[in-house]
Amino acid sequence: MTPLRSVLFVPGSNPRAIDKARALACDVVILDLEDAVGPDDKAAARDAVAGAVRAGDFAAPLLAVRVNGEDTPWATDDLAMLAAARPAAVLIPKVGSPDELRRARAALPESIRLWANIETCLGVLEARAIAGCAAEAGLDALVFGQNDLSRDFGRRPSRDRRMLHTAMGLTVLAGRAAGLGLVDGVFNDFSDAEGFERECLEGRAFGFDGKAVIHPAQIEAANRIYAPSPDDLAWATAVVAAFDDPVNAGKGAVRAAGGMAERLHLYQARRLLAASGRA
Ligand code: COA
Ligand code: MG
Repeated sequence: MTPLRSVLFVPGSNPRAIDKARALACDVVILDLEDAVGPDDKAAARDAVAGAVRAGDFAAPLLAVRVNGEDTPWATDDLAMLAAARPAAVLIPKVGSPDELRRARAALPESIRLWANIETCLGVLEARAIAGCAAEAGLDALVFGQNDLSRDFGRRPSRDRRMLHTAMGLTVLAGRAAGLGLVDGVFNDFSDAEGFERECLEGRAFGFDGKAVIHPAQIEAANRIYAPSPDDLAWATAVVAAFDDPVNAGKGAVRAAGGMAERLHLYQARRLLAASGRA
């Protein structure tokens, strides 16, 4: 499993930002063809993204591209470009039904994984069905989209996310039920480091694996806050060691980390170590 602590959006129309993104210490780079790119720049951005994907050379372990939605004039050309350029993953915006993922799947080679933006009221309410087609559609992660969702609510984005809490919880439940990665939405005010950290802590408490970010200045805090704590890692290391001990071979519950650990904890411990890059 790839860590998803920091997932950086980079406008496909901004070559300087794309170049800069190559060296940044985020877990995922998403080159965006959708909301970050104006209508007049769509074709040029598509060409630039094709070139960037082919050239590769990103420090981030995972490179994805967000396409325009299927109801736009750009979707067919975006998908055709990506079928040839082959990034690791393609993020589908404003997903409202599993059929949208099935149609994207049919347009892309099997090697490309899908990610889905949950960012409309309908998408939130259908999140279970959307996540439910994960195996069939090759879906790996849900990305909560709070800018679009706030618009659906008829409100401007706000630091007070109480209005979005039900949607965040439903997105996390649907994603976890299907074993998907979960990325919290972006915090627009990149000059407010304190506000950003508060929102990372809130997303973490809700059960997300990481945060979508829009500016290099947000990467360090997302990586730090979404990394497992030293306590978590010590617990995970002890649980894995206990189950690896031949004395405990075949046991369901063992003594570990000063308490009891069951095999279900072993699964969780391995996830934690993987998320921290230690396994
Ligand atoms: N990815 C990579 N590099 C980025 C970046 C990003 N998302 N955002 C900014 N940078 C770079 C800038 O190019 C600049 O590089 P330079 O010093 O080499 O010139 C540096 O970081 C500092 O940027 P700064 O001057 O503070 O911001 P800006 O005015 O250039 O950009 C935004 C501000 C908001 C326009 C820009 O951060 C952005 O476009 N973010 C992504 C938006 C997006 O993708 N939205 C859709 C998904 S929600
Ligand atoms: Mg959007």
